[in-house]
Amino acid sequence: MYTQSFTVGDGNQAPQKPIPFTSQQDAERLAAFDACIADDGRIEAQDWMPDAYRKTLVRQISQHAHSEIVGMLPEGNWISRAPSLKRKAILIAKVQDEGGHGLYLYAAAETLGTSRDQMLNDLHTGRAKYSSIFNYPTLTWADVGVIGWLVDGAAIMNQIPLCRCSYGPYARAMVRVCKEESFHQRQGYESLLVMMQGTDGQRAMVQDAVNRWWWKCLAMFGPPDADSPNSALGMRWGIKRFSNDELRQKFVDAIVPQAKVLGVTLPDPDLKWNAERGHYDYGAIDWDEFWATVNGNGPCNRERLATRVKAHEDGQWVRDAALAHARKQAARRQQEAA
Ligand SMILES: [Fe+2]
Ligand SMILES: [Fe+2]
Repeated sequence: MYTQSFTVGDGNQAPQKPIPFTSQQDAERLAAFDACIADDGRIEAQDWMPDAYRKTLVRQISQHAHSEIVGMLPEGNWISRAPSLKRKAILIAKVQDEGGHGLYLYAAAETLGTSRDQMLNDLHTGRAKYSSIFNYPTLTWADVGVIGWLVDGAAIMNQIPLCRCSYGPYARAMVRVCKEESFHQRQGYESLLVMMQGTDGQRAMVQDAVNRWWWKCLAMFGPPDADSPNSALGMRWGIKRFSNDELRQKFVDAIVPQAKVLGVTLPDPDLKWNAERGHYDYGAIDWDEFWATVNGNGPCNRERLATRVKAHEDGQWVRDAALAHARKQAARRQQEAA
């Protein structure tokens, strides 16, 4: 999974601002909080924290969790059509990992006092956002490889710094998530390497998938720094360690040599090494398309949400059965104790 920097507001929320403290006690707590952040310490669930910090984290971690479970859908579509038993086993493992990431992250968000029901309800009613990258279709098998290489690759760039996030439960969840994301990226790249050694048709399929996904992956890092009102606060609070543009640049610099090894062209005529900056320059991103998709008008927004809601509804009997079992166990324990 997956981010679009997690700085995109849900619904009509205004950017978070620090709230003024109201009492001497609050002032002391805020000073202790600030000192912990300045010292690169970790804030834990039971610690006092400013309201805006809590709200920012709930929004970011829940958007992240939603992205993980919606992210299962585009690739899940290919499990039944994988070209070999080996590829099918790898893809099942990857999609299952993403479900696990969603679970760790919902659990981390719950430590901040929000409930899973509330978060899922926000997702299913369209109030909460998830990464827009999953609102595009996976047209061929090459898309599965490209998603691993580029989408999971962009996710890793975004998520490795989150292992040092100031909120302890989130930071700890990210350590395992990042290890699994690294496997996701490698399996994608390896499957593309194999396709590139195949037929002309397979090579064309890989190039076509790269052409369709490249710009969307650059947009995954979120709006440019100048247009990211929540970013500065996230950086001050130690939630974000690098800005959207810094992470995007790191991604471009890492991917260009990988594309050369693979033998594909990245679809950007402005992409070139800038010796003065020591980085690759790249062309302009179409932010109108990004915002249209974030706001619900991408090619698959409705389909993804409908699939997710149906999966949740189809799973109602499992939740009911688990609750009935728990009630039975509790009654039995009570009887035994009596
Ligand atoms: Fe993930
Ligand atoms: Fe992943």
